Amino acid sequence: MNKSKKIIIAGGGGYIGSHAVARLKEFGWQPVIVDNFSRGNHDIAERLGVEIFAGELSDETFLDQIFSKEQYCAVMHFAASSYVGESVTDPARYYRNNVGSTLALLSAMLRHNVDKLIFSSTCATYGIPKILPIDETTPQSPVSPYGWSKLMIEQILRDYASAYNLHFVAFRYFNAAGALPEQKIGERHSPETHLIPLAIASAYNGLELKVFGRDYPTDDGTCIRDYAHVIDIADAHRVGLEYLLSGGKSDFFNIGTGKGHSVQQVIDTVEQLSGRKVNFVNASRREGDPAELVADAGKINSVLGWKPQYHKIEDIIQSAIDWHLADGFCN
Ligand SMILES: NC(=O)c1ccc[n+]([C@@H]2O[C@H](COP(=O)([O-])OP(=O)(O)OC[C@H]3O[C@@H](n4cnc5c(N)ncnc54)[C@H](O)[C@@H]3O)[C@@H](O)[C@H]2O)c1
Repeated sequence: MNKSKKIIIAGGGGYIGSHAVARLKEFGWQPVIVDNFSRGNHDIAERLGVEIFAGELSDETFLDQIFSKEQYCAVMHFAASSYVGESVTDPARYYRNNVGSTLALLSAMLRHNVDKLIFSSTCATYGIPKILPIDETTPQSPVSPYGWSKLMIEQILRDYASAYNLHFVAFRYFNAAGALPEQKIGERHSPETHLIPLAIASAYNGLELKVFGRDYPTDDGTCIRDYAHVIDIADAHRVGLEYLLSGGKSDFFNIGTGKGHSVQQVIDTVEQLSGRKVNFVNASRREGDPAELVADAGKINSVLGWKPQYHKIEDIIQSAIDWHLADGFCN
C-alpha cells in the first residue's frame, strides 16, 4: 500500500491551492507546489515552507522530473485559467490551459502510477440553473468556455476512471472567499474580479465598484451567490484525499454553504465592518450571470462528512479585510 504522505498541489501558488497547502501541512501531509506563477504569487507560496517546482503543467518533461523524485500518494489540481469573461474573448487559452494541461498532468500520473486526483471544478458547469438550490444532479449546461472547459475535464475524469483505473474526487466550488491572515495567506489575484476583494479595495482605496445588474428577481435586485470560506474549501480537499486513500469511489461534490448573499448584502457588510463607504455604481447586467447560485451541499456532508465551519458572511469578510490590510492591498 502507498504510505507516502507527499502530495502534488498543482496551482498551489494560487488562492485556494495555497490554503490547501496550509491545511494539509497542519494535518501532517507533505504537499509540494507545482505552479507556473502565471496567476499565482511566489511570495505567498514561499511563506508556506514547502518545496516549490516552478514550471508549466503542460510540459511533460518537467512533470516527469517531479514525479520521478518521490512516490506521491495523490495530486490536487487547482491550476487553471478561471476568468469567465476572458474565456469568452479568448477561448483558446481556456481549452489549451485547462483541458490541455490537465491531459498532460493525467498522462504523467499514469506514467508514474499515481492514481488519485482531487480536481477543482466549478458551479459554472451548471450554467443557469432552473431549480435552486443546486445539487449534483442538476443538469450541467455551461454558458462560458471556462465552464465548458471544466465540464470537459469532468468527462475526461469519468473516462479515465473507467479505462485506466483513475480514482478522483471533483469538487464543484461555488464562491471561495476569506483568508488566513494569521498565516499571511489570502486572495491576491491580478486582475481581481471577485466581489469581496473588490468591495474591500473600494472601501479602503476608493476604487469604483461596478454592481452588474439591479433588476434581478431577488429581494434587492442584485445577484445572489454562495460564499464558502477558503479554509473550509481547503479542508474539504483534505477530507476528499482521506476518502480516496481509504478506497472511496470516484465522485462529484458541490462545495458551498447552502446560503446565498446578494451583492448589495456583501457591500453593506464590508461597509459595516470597515466603517467606510464602498464607492459602488450600478451597471448593466453581464451576459450569462444567473440571478442566484446557491449550493445544495447535502451530498458532501453525507458522503464525506464535510460541513463548513464558517457560517457567517461577516466572519468570512472580516478575515478578508484583515488579510488585505496586512498585505498592503489597502491603505
Ligand atoms: N476562486 C473561486 O471562487 C473558484 C470558484 C470555482 C472554481 N474555482 C477553481 O478553483 C481553482 C483555483 O482557483 P483560484 O481562485 O485559487 O485560482 P488562482 O488563479 O488563484 O490559482 C490557480 C493557480 O494555477 C496556476 N496555473 C495556471 N495554469 C497553470 C499551468 N498551465 N501550469 C502551472 N500552473 C498553472 C496559476 O499560476 C495560479 O497560481 C481553479 O481551477 C478555478 O477554476 C475557483
